[in-house]
Amino acid sequence: MHFNKMSIYQIYPRSFYDSNGDGVGDLAGITAKLDYLKELGIDMIWITPFFLSPQRDNGYDVADYYQIDPLFGTMADFEELLAKGKALGIEFMLDMVFNHTSTEHAWFQSALAGDEAKQAYYIFRDGAEIPTNWLSKFGGSAWQYVSHLDKHYLHLFDVTQADLNWKNEAVRQELIKVINYWIDKGVMGFRFDVINLIDKGDFIDDNHGDGRKYYTDGVRVNDYLTELNKLSFGKNPTMVTVGEMSSTTIEAAVGYSARLENRLRMIFNFHHLKVDYEAGEKWSVKQFSLVELKKILFDWQLGVQAGDGWQALFWSNHDQPRVVSRFGASDPAYRVISAKMLANAMYLLRGTPFIYQGEEIGLPNASFMDIHQYRDVETHNYYQILREKGLVHDAVMKILAVKSRDHGRTPMPWSGGDAHAGFSTTEPWLGLIEAYRDINVEDALQDNNSIFYHYKELIAMRKAYSIISEGEIIPHLMEHSQLMVYERRLFPQRLLVITNFSKNNVALDLSTVALEEFLFGDMLLHNYTYSVVQNSTLHLRPYESLCFALI
Ligand code: GLC
Repeated sequence: MHFNKMSIYQIYPRSFYDSNGDGVGDLAGITAKLDYLKELGIDMIWITPFFLSPQRDNGYDVADYYQIDPLFGTMADFEELLAKGKALGIEFMLDMVFNHTSTEHAWFQSALAGDEAKQAYYIFRDGAEIPTNWLSKFGGSAWQYVSHLDKHYLHLFDVTQADLNWKNEAVRQELIKVINYWIDKGVMGFRFDVINLIDKGDFIDDNHGDGRKYYTDGVRVNDYLTELNKLSFGKNPTMVTVGEMSSTTIEAAVGYSARLENRLRMIFNFHHLKVDYEAGEKWSVKQFSLVELKKILFDWQLGVQAGDGWQALFWSNHDQPRVVSRFGASDPAYRVISAKMLANAMYLLRGTPFIYQGEEIGLPNASFMDIHQYRDVETHNYYQILREKGLVHDAVMKILAVKSRDHGRTPMPWSGGDAHAGFSTTEPWLGLIEAYRDINVEDALQDNNSIFYHYKELIAMRKAYSIISEGEIIPHLMEHSQLMVYERRLFPQRLLVITNFSKNNVALDLSTVALEEFLFGDMLLHNYTYSVVQNSTLHLRPYESLCFALI
């Protein structure tokens, strides 16, 4: 299947389903729930890292790319998952964390023991003086001093995540070997973690920032990706690849994903998920503006389309708060309707949907009141940093309540009647959402009107209608503060998506934007049972969303 017709489902294994009663989800737990995913209709599962790891950053700190962490099971469990998935028509995408390894990786351990060849796998600088003023994305300096070597090493993330030196050909060869190993096992997709950070550029102080501009979208990233493609996944044109791009630009994204460039199939960018950052600062509380959100989404849609690139479409992942709490409404009156509206707004755009576990049943944020309920390393680092900046405990907790990555990591509630929501037979590694008795998979499957079945319909529609998988994108009413309106066109077909992002009733006279002929088209998707139309005016109710087609 072409990647523009696919829908990909992201699994964070430690929070998906615990098959062995240790409180942590595992690979056998995914196998046990494959029928559920088949029912949803997804084509591929992206599983976040389950390789051997000290789990300091929940697996994004890999100690061995060829081994499975016992926390998640065995190689036999993985092979069984792969085989059972394939039998159901579901393929797998693995998460390649190639910007850095864990400091427990054998390469880094040898480097620490004085092996110079292995030191050249990483980015070491001589001397006790901090080489540059660059900052780690998880807080503090990006350099760590190793006194017995009298050298610093670079870590753009946690101090236990040492950055690899991609300039070293031996490193690139090792990483290509890793990809080919998993391809030989039958893996059909790869997600590359923060892959636009692999070229560090010049090591100089950043007088106006944190160093980001020196290590983001470096000039060699394209060449490195071209090489990876040629020597591994590019040999099979049906392979699906997506690069996670940190603070990237439209221009760079086009370079990474353009059809004729033969690098990656598509990219993730995060600009639309920064609209609730106050002055660019994640650790703040800010109401988002729909006009700003649309500007970012459609600048990217149009720019990437013009360059013949391709994007992953997503609202959430394991690093983000829950979308219904963030851009919809998590109160019982509007949770279901707003979750369906958000799905329409995102997944009818040009790109490939990535649905994050739990999103299809409208999971809201957690309601942790105590800092000890959080598990995430970034959350704990920033708790300290914000306190040191002078914020009182309660003020910090208010920020964490909307921004912590743990909101996206709470265990999947499979049933409402069980003490641990059917996720595990014991206390899970991270607390459940408070409302799991009302919000869970079992209930969603029994209700024809649930968010789950709405997602199922969206996934099926993308396969059935080429206008959704291939059509051109045309935004409308960019300055409207409550509605997101856009069209897709695939001559002679047209599709119109209208979504009300607000709790208010909003009237829209379609004749004022020359779109009234859609009222005579087919209603392909709707989150209310009927629409209210007077002449050419649509009377939209809270969070109402419709999709009309002229085909
Ligand atoms: C990516 C991952 C995130 C991880 C980071 C460092 O952003 O999604 O979870 O912490 O890279 O590997």
